[in-house]
Amino acid sequence: MSTFDTIHQNYEHRFAKSNPNMLKPIFGTTDVMPLWIADMDFKVAEPITNELQRLVDRGVYAYEFDPNKVFQVIADWNLRRHRLKLNRKSFVQVSGVLTGIALLIRELTNEGDGVMVQTPVYHQFYKIIKSADRKIVRNPLKIVDGNYEMDFEDLELKLQIENVKIILLCNPHNPVGRVWNREELQRLTELANTYKVTIVSDEIHSDIIYSKATFNSIASFDDNKHISILGSPAKTFGMQSISNGYLYIPNKDVFSKMKETIGSMYLDHGNAFSTFATIAAYTKGEKWVDELIVYLEKSMNWIQDFIRSEIPEVKMFVPEGTYQIWLDFSKLNLSDDALKDLIFIEARLALTPGTWFDKGHSHFMRMNIASPLPKLKEALYQLKIAMNESI
Ligand SMILES: Cc1ncc(COP(=O)(O)O)c(C=O)c1O
Repeated sequence: MSTFDTIHQNYEHRFAKSNPNMLKPIFGTTDVMPLWIADMDFKVAEPITNELQRLVDRGVYAYEFDPNKVFQVIADWNLRRHRLKLNRKSFVQVSGVLTGIALLIRELTNEGDGVMVQTPVYHQFYKIIKSADRKIVRNPLKIVDGNYEMDFEDLELKLQIENVKIILLCNPHNPVGRVWNREELQRLTELANTYKVTIVSDEIHSDIIYSKATFNSIASFDDNKHISILGSPAKTFGMQSISNGYLYIPNKDVFSKMKETIGSMYLDHGNAFSTFATIAAYTKGEKWVDELIVYLEKSMNWIQDFIRSEIPEVKMFVPEGTYQIWLDFSKLNLSDDALKDLIFIEARLALTPGTWFDKGHSHFMRMNIASPLPKLKEALYQLKIAMNESI
């Protein structure tokens, strides 16, 4: 039995994803297993807890932050894990990845400019672009032989006619689980260079990569000066409530501008908890992450086998990375309301509706698999029973 199997037992919580006040308006019920928001049900690695405990025991919370040390451990981690060389001096701290994206969009574009997203995509991207009065330019992913791919013809056409200033890349991609390969990223950077468009790459899921894929950061393409990356320890180590995010900007002009803007709003102040938890995570949490990935992959394989043999009408897009799986229910031929009824009410599962990620995706649902496998098995059996009873 894995530690990840047992950790979940008998703990009480009111996390966002299981808070009845959040469940009821979205799912119409509170009697659901929460597998929607992208965080983990696992306890963090012990060194993180130990470090937080040390701070609690110390009982003094004066100003204390150490961004240079934080950036150094992030750079060291990326060199070890992804053979990615990052310069400690090109980082800027922000409170979270979404904050970083919002700031970049406002700094690098003007009202009305286009920001391209590859749909279906993480729903908060739409909100960020819209609330800055920029134009959302969709470059829909296409499904080729059952897998998602970028549509470069559509992408280039839109770069020509839609006044696009930023391509907001999601790598690994939430929700479809693709980890973009070198050829795809090479082609993307060439197009971005040709049309003088900045690639803003959200790489928050970069450490959750399964055995068949390799993560390539957009920062590993030397010839590309028009990039910014966003990252955070939040997804890797399951520390959403205690982490900060960072921007990584190799272009010196853009870096200076962003540093000044962020500094002028004092958004780059960390705190002792996030600082020391982050340092502990990146320096002492590696074994835990390795075990986590093995566990997640085992769960993913179990789910894939179960779906194939027990509910083959459901199509699962097997992720190369992230702890989300993207499920297509269109073969059931249900109306939008009937599908919601099946999943939320009959199967009692809170999965994220596909429409959050783009219009036209009402027959998709995203499931978070960062939960103990026994719990995921229960979820899949609930789904099977509900499908057998209602179809
Ligand atoms: C692609 C992506 N970016 C950003 C975030 C959120 O990042 P933060 O909480 O640091 O703003 C998420 C969380 O689910 C995500 O999936």
